[in-house]
Amino acid sequence: MSEFKNPAELAKLAIEQIHIPERPKSLYDPVRYTMALGGKRVRPQLVFLGTGMTGGDPEKALNAAAAVELLHNFTLIHDDIMDQADSRRGQPSVHTRWDEATAILSGDVMFNMAYEQLAHYRPEHGFDSGLFLALNEVFSDATRIVCEGQAMDMEFETALTVELSHYIEMISCKTAALLEASLKMGGLLSGADSMAVEKLGIVGRQAGVAFQIQDDLLDAIADPKTFGKRPGGDIYEGKKTYLSILALDRARKDVRQKLSAILQNSACTESDVSYVIDAYHDLNVIIDTKEAIKNHYIACLSALEYFGDSSYKKAISDLIESLKERQS
Ligand code: IPE
Ligand code: IPE
Ligand code: MG
Ligand code: MG
Ligand code: MG
Repeated sequence: MSEFKNPAELAKLAIEQIHIPERPKSLYDPVRYTMALGGKRVRPQLVFLGTGMTGGDPEKALNAAAAVELLHNFTLIHDDIMDQADSRRGQPSVHTRWDEATAILSGDVMFNMAYEQLAHYRPEHGFDSGLFLALNEVFSDATRIVCEGQAMDMEFETALTVELSHYIEMISCKTAALLEASLKMGGLLSGADSMAVEKLGIVGRQAGVAFQIQDDLLDAIADPKTFGKRPGGDIYEGKKTYLSILALDRARKDVRQKLSAILQNSACTESDVSYVIDAYHDLNVIIDTKEAIKNHYIACLSALEYFGDSSYKKAISDLIESLKERQS
């Protein structure tokens, strides 16, 4: 058995080997800025862990890990335009620090840079042609599904009510699809069989659903000092989140009308946001959201049981444990 390779250190290496040209500055400075702000780098770590847990050498996954992190960061830059979000990772978002046109184009080039990372696995570089095609298929499917999820997220903003099952579908697309793809790509790189790749996908999907519900929760109740994004941003934007859907469903008529009015008002105030958060507490929404997060993480860990014990399996469950406690 080869020695354990630390996924967080590998994620750092994966990002460092990405070549970001100097010019045009307006195109590449925002790319450098975004990648340097770091973030948790959950997705590249999942790629490495997927490879390691299925018996491969995680170092083979460096470029795939870079590809998923580039794609993720590209979606964040565009997401911040869509959500009119001024801050990201405790700093001004790209469209705030530069402008929207710059943010659109820098995001676009990162999408291309992601495919350049995948091109490392082309058959002419000595890799199996089936591997190259399979990685591209998983990656392209995930990209399309993330876009579909982002479209649903926007459509739901103006819908009066959204069913919880439709919300779960939306977050399975906008968020879970990329965690799912990360683990699957990790498995493909070790040559894991299709059953193992499927199981890795389930682990990633359940983790992703939990992760997004938790993101919704943090948006409402996280400590602004550690959160790195505008607190209450989802309420200002009138997002249908796990919390707003439960609250709208549970509130009596007068409270529901007020909640609806606030969520639909693009100029809502700080006191409106406090009203909504108080309602989340009063209606037991916070407690039940925590329960839902816990259950999806349990489903994730139970899917992980398909795999035999190893240091990489242990590292995945440790990563999940650390995500449960996250404050940003
Ligand atoms: C933010 O993702 C977008 C969501 C899918 C909720 P992360 O919380 O993984 O962001 P970073 O990369 O750590 O900043
Ligand atoms: C983002 O969901 C999902 C993607 C970027 C694809 P959110 O809009 O909730 O993410 P944050 O809160 O801005 O990070
Ligand atoms: Mg957002
Ligand atoms: Mg969004
Ligand atoms: Mg969010």
